[in-house]
Amino acid sequence: MSERLRIALTKGRLQDQSVELFEGMGLDCTPIKNPGRRLVHSIPNYPLDAVLAKAPDVITYVEHGVCDLGIVGKDTILEKGGAFYEVMDLGFGRCRFALAVKEGSDFYGTYKTRRIATKYPAVTKEFFEKKGMDVSIIKIEGSVELAPILELADAIVDIVETGATLRENGLVPIEDVAQVSARLLVNIAAMKLHRTEILDFISRCEQELKRPK
Ligand code: PRP
Repeated sequence: MSERLRIALTKGRLQDQSVELFEGMGLDCTPIKNPGRRLVHSIPNYPLDAVLAKAPDVITYVEHGVCDLGIVGKDTILEKGGAFYEVMDLGFGRCRFALAVKEGSDFYGTYKTRRIATKYPAVTKEFFEKKGMDVSIIKIEGSVELAPILELADAIVDIVETGATLRENGLVPIEDVAQVSARLLVNIAAMKLHRTEILDFISRCEQELKRPK
């Protein structure tokens, strides 16, 4: 009898694509798709329980070993870091981190300290440190695009997927900071303790990702 694994899935954008991947692997995801008020969802035909969590919590659960596996965006991994194995690029949830400014503004054409609004201060700090540029980072929790409009910031560092949010708010991307996609994480101890089950799960993921669509 194999041990049941527990996986933390990121709620929202990555959730449906994670479920699609699992269904392609033959997992019955009915409990995840009809959660009601339940927070832990048992897959009936595979030894796996799933919990849905906000992206940074996925990393916390995997790091602490309360979840053996996790699916989270590279954006959150770059921002939060942590001790876990990042075993696979799942290929979905593709977007990029970009530096964006108000259309027509000359971001590099001044010696004043630039103010950058972002939900990702660690990523932003590293990006400008590499350039040797001293910037002032303003942490925003959501709708970062508002910051340049309100003149709180000269630029933003944020996730760009379709580019629609930037366009509709008169902003333009001027530089890529990093590429982002969903990653599969594994808890370090679980990789030893539940090796057989984890490797079975990983190989099913790999096979599904390789399958021509
Ligand atoms: C993200 C990001 C941008 C938007 C980009 O926000 O912060 O605002 O999506 O997507 P687009 O390029 O397809 O327009 P999200 O919707 O996750 O909401 P949030 O701002 O509340 O975090």
